[in-house]
Amino acid sequence: MRILGIDTSCDDTSAAVVEDGRRMLSNVVSSQNDIHLKFSGIVPELASRKHIEMIWPVVREALDSAGSEISDLDAIAVCKGPGLIGSLLVGCSFAKSLSYASGIPLLGINHLEGHIYSNFLEAESPDFPFLALVVSGGHTSLFNVKGPGIYCEVARTLDDAAGEAYDKVAKLLGVGFPGGPVIDKLSRRGDPTKVNFPRPYLRGKSDFSFSGLKTAVLYHYNKYPDTPVEEIAAGFQASVIDVLVKKTLDEALRLNLKAVVLSGGVSANSELRERILNKASEEGIRVFLPSVELCTDNAAMIAAAGRHHLIAGDIAPMDLSPKAYLPLDKRACEVVEQSYR
Ligand code: KG4
Ligand code: ZN
Repeated sequence: MRILGIDTSCDDTSAAVVEDGRRMLSNVVSSQNDIHLKFSGIVPELASRKHIEMIWPVVREALDSAGSEISDLDAIAVCKGPGLIGSLLVGCSFAKSLSYASGIPLLGINHLEGHIYSNFLEAESPDFPFLALVVSGGHTSLFNVKGPGIYCEVARTLDDAAGEAYDKVAKLLGVGFPGGPVIDKLSRRGDPTKVNFPRPYLRGKSDFSFSGLKTAVLYHYNKYPDTPVEEIAAGFQASVIDVLVKKTLDEALRLNLKAVVLSGGVSANSELRERILNKASEEGIRVFLPSVELCTDNAAMIAAAGRHHLIAGDIAPMDLSPKAYLPLDKRACEVVEQSYR
């Protein structure tokens, strides 16, 4: 089963061909970082214009490097949201046209489901059920994943996503964009105990909150502008990672889940990867991490998630319209919850 995946949810144009939901034959990602760098953030209008320019060359390259023709495909899986609406529209319009012209079935995939499925492209992939931490520029959520397509959100950020906090802190410090990789690198040269930022654990709640931490960094920076950026970066990162690791493992223990699966751009963070592996092994919990290239946005994850939709006959209609806000299906979760009672 060969699926072409397409993701244009944010600022990367990506296309990939994946076989049987697991074997990545190609994964092309055209980054727009150069365009958005001078704004220290993504400019939606510029992002969608660039997607229009890049979508066909990127899809062509993905097919060519997979040694595939359009006629070899069993389905076209496209990210239908959440994301920037102008960007999503480019991928969805392209995928619908290709599906209509070729007669190949169309699959509409939620971006968060795609992130979770990046783990199925690795040599070792998780068995259901598991706890999924999706931690990116737009999301920080924990899902109890009971089976393919059955996601129960058990925690989410009440304000900023962790990646958003990284990007905003990097902007404040003037160290570059996207902020995550820059702060990750700076932190390795700083002492995390020099600047002690609060840990937003929100005791008694599973949810996350990172906006107060971001404000604490701002106040510190305004009050002590001579603090070396490495120390601020290391202090900030220590707080984010402490919270992500503790809350994720606490939730896995509470739900009695033996596997934790990470995904999304922030899961590329070197300290998060190291700390969660160590801490989880003390608790007897197994951790699955996508390779660093598959943590950030890519289309292989969309194609991988497409497999179970195709098997279930969940074909998207030709009037599929993308959504900027699109939670993972709560209804499916409630149905399962009821059947457990
Ligand atoms: O998953 P992704 O590519 O896009 C969204 O779906 O949001 O995630 C992008 C986010 C950005 O906020 C970026 O700063 C963050 O992931 N990120 C990192 C690292 N690499 C990317 N955050 C922390 N450490 C990293 N190494
Ligand atoms: Zn993403």
